[in-house]
Amino acid sequence: MLVLLQTDYHCVSTAAARIIAAWVRRDPALVLGLATGGTTIGMYRELSRMHREEALDFSKVVTFNLDEYIGLAPDHPHSFHSFMHQNFFSHVNIPPAQIHIPDGSIQTGYEEYCASYEAAIREAGGIDLQVLGIGRDGHIGFNEPSSSLASRTRPKTLSRSTLADNCRDFARGEEMPTAAITMGIGTILEARHIMLIASGKAKAKAVAKAIEGPITASVSASALQLHPDVTFVVDEDAARELSQCDYYRRVMEMTAKLTPKRLW
Ligand code: PGA
Repeated sequence: MLVLLQTDYHCVSTAAARIIAAWVRRDPALVLGLATGGTTIGMYRELSRMHREEALDFSKVVTFNLDEYIGLAPDHPHSFHSFMHQNFFSHVNIPPAQIHIPDGSIQTGYEEYCASYEAAIREAGGIDLQVLGIGRDGHIGFNEPSSSLASRTRPKTLSRSTLADNCRDFARGEEMPTAAITMGIGTILEARHIMLIASGKAKAKAVAKAIEGPITASVSASALQLHPDVTFVVDEDAARELSQCDYYRRVMEMTAKLTPKRLW
């Protein structure tokens, strides 16, 4: 596990974008797992800039998003489809047929639908690099506390903490979805590489539990300790509850020295 300590949100965004860009340049047909959420916006902005100004080519990249609210049609302004199109897909050249986001508007057949999402990931060859945010409750995707560490793509009820955090996106009086379709923790752990980004004090406890706490279903992100290739990109505020920052800096320096070709 690598912890890349960054000064602030801007640095987290540019570092994360650089890591993704390096993977895309090395493998233009990368299968990229994507996340939504406020934290990802700066990263998507920087990737869009790299596409525009540095000819970063996404034409062969295949994407799979982690999750989508149940009950929102793709064109709903608060759906994750809309978020992704606004913040990323409309600024880069990924052909629409290569973009996959769970459909939250289906009314029945969730089991079959979720199994088909998993099958599509497998048919694409599996996810090469999965990008994650983290919730204050330690969730990754919408895998709320008590999610099985082996869970697969499925409908999930949102926790109180997630409802409180995400209601800021919905207008007063507008009903917020209370469930989502999300890749499972088991699905996420099958990605070859994982990068989690976090910024701000509100995430400090969840980040510390994920990196230094015990592996527990109470903190979904702690399951990442089981993965052989995870990079956390966190700013100083999000890192403030970590007890071993000095050690993480030394690991970073040593890794850069011993494996200079590593794409973090
Ligand atoms: P945020 O969400 O980036 O909006 O804080 C992260 C998450 O809930 O995974």
